[in-house]
Amino acid sequence: MKQASDAMRPAITDGQSLLDPADWQAFRGEAHALLDTLITRLEHAGDGPVWTPMPEAVQQRLAEPPPRLAQDVHKVCADLRELILPFGTGNTHPRFWGWVHGTGTAGGVLAEMAAAALNANCGGRDHGGIHVEKCVIDWMARWFEFPASAAGLLTTGSSMANLLGLAAARTSAIAEVRRQGVGGARLVGYVSSEGHSCLAKAFELLGLGGAALRRVSIDREFRIDVDALRRSIKEDRAGGLQPFCVVGTAGTVNTGATDDLAALAGLCRDEELWFHVDGAFGALTILAPQLAPRLAGIESAHSLAFDLHKWLHVPYDAGCLLVRDRATLLATFDDRPPYLAAADGLAGGGTWPSDLGIELSRGFRALKVWFTLQQHGTEALGEAIDRNCAQARILAARIEKRPLLRLMAPVPLQIVCCRYEPPGMDDAAIDALNVKLVATMQRRGIAAPSTCKIDNRFCIRISITNHRTRDADLDILVGAIETIGSELAAAG
Ligand SMILES: Cc1ncc(COP(=O)(O)O)c(C=O)c1O
Repeated sequence: MKQASDAMRPAITDGQSLLDPADWQAFRGEAHALLDTLITRLEHAGDGPVWTPMPEAVQQRLAEPPPRLAQDVHKVCADLRELILPFGTGNTHPRFWGWVHGTGTAGGVLAEMAAAALNANCGGRDHGGIHVEKCVIDWMARWFEFPASAAGLLTTGSSMANLLGLAAARTSAIAEVRRQGVGGARLVGYVSSEGHSCLAKAFELLGLGGAALRRVSIDREFRIDVDALRRSIKEDRAGGLQPFCVVGTAGTVNTGATDDLAALAGLCRDEELWFHVDGAFGALTILAPQLAPRLAGIESAHSLAFDLHKWLHVPYDAGCLLVRDRATLLATFDDRPPYLAAADGLAGGGTWPSDLGIELSRGFRALKVWFTLQQHGTEALGEAIDRNCAQARILAARIEKRPLLRLMAPVPLQIVCCRYEPPGMDDAAIDALNVKLVATMQRRGIAAPSTCKIDNRFCIRISITNHRTRDADLDILVGAIETIGSELAAAG
């Protein structure tokens, strides 16, 4: 049944899109004004609180059903400014140091805008988006000295890149796995006890079971104990299991430790195992000449997962998988039913990204990677990484001078783990205090570190993957830890 308000709708004539602006000039004005708002937001990224939680009233307004009739774009932009823009994660702020978040760039906004305007589906076919992705994959393969036979694709992030890389490892162990599954094979893989949780999820999804990912002990630098790994492989073989891969980590999530990748590469060669590297953020230190040597051995990996949305500051989301043997990756994922068959014209283009992964429809992620690299160049991006590591060392030195703060782990890259330890409290109470301290600091909008456990103790974890952080921000952090810590200690 027609509703009365339908009479308000302008008549649509044939030949006019139902969804394009009726008045392009007015739309242009709104678009420019919104872009100005966004640029101003980034220009003043350090003003105001780091994080502003979304008020209940705003959440309720968002939960209202979408309008049945069109609204003026001016109204939609006004709502966007009021209801959404003030309540970001906070990772564009100079004092956001939680988890491992990238900071984004102003240029990234332009790239995202252009990608939306092109609206390319980068699953495949022969168009610019596919060529740009091939180009950035090729650049990155060269950073890591992968051979010409390498292939890769951009992913949502390292969780997905690790999953796809481990799927390729599974294919290399059981060629028929796509048709027949793992059958009776009892595949097992290895990572240090500091390995990221996404790796166990990948094992679960691949039908291997999370327990098939062995957690190997670490040394004092939080790196995998290679002798313990060797023993574990031997024991598993003796027990009738089938070791198939080792995951080395370049930059562990808790402390930023990088395994001895050269030793792992050698072990994998000797044991005929697939060598996968989870380099989510650490792999990008390849761009920082002083840090890159600790990645020695990464060039021997069979597969490598890393992110561009972390330390390259490409807007979310952008991860990458590189596999040294294109044939194995193709054998893992390619499948072209007739409706996707290669042909001349638009259906050409050689290998498509969808032949190398599980997604058929994919956005134009490569554009923001290309744009970031073009705009800033590898040298400045490497310098930003280097500076973050220098800041982490400065912070660690300041922490070590404070009587109630304790540094909990070495600081090889950009992560600093510390604890506020007031006298007269037991470990459990100190755990609770530090967790509350972090939440209080976030709620007050002062800074946004996160927490983790080191040696089974909760601590404050500061990961400086932030090109806007200044040294003065580190002083604000140390001061806030001490102030909030003493308040909480006093409150019991
Ligand atoms: C070492 C490591 N691996 C994997 C991941 C998962 O990456 P993503 O969040 O891009 O999926 C992270 C995330 O911080 C990480 O630090």
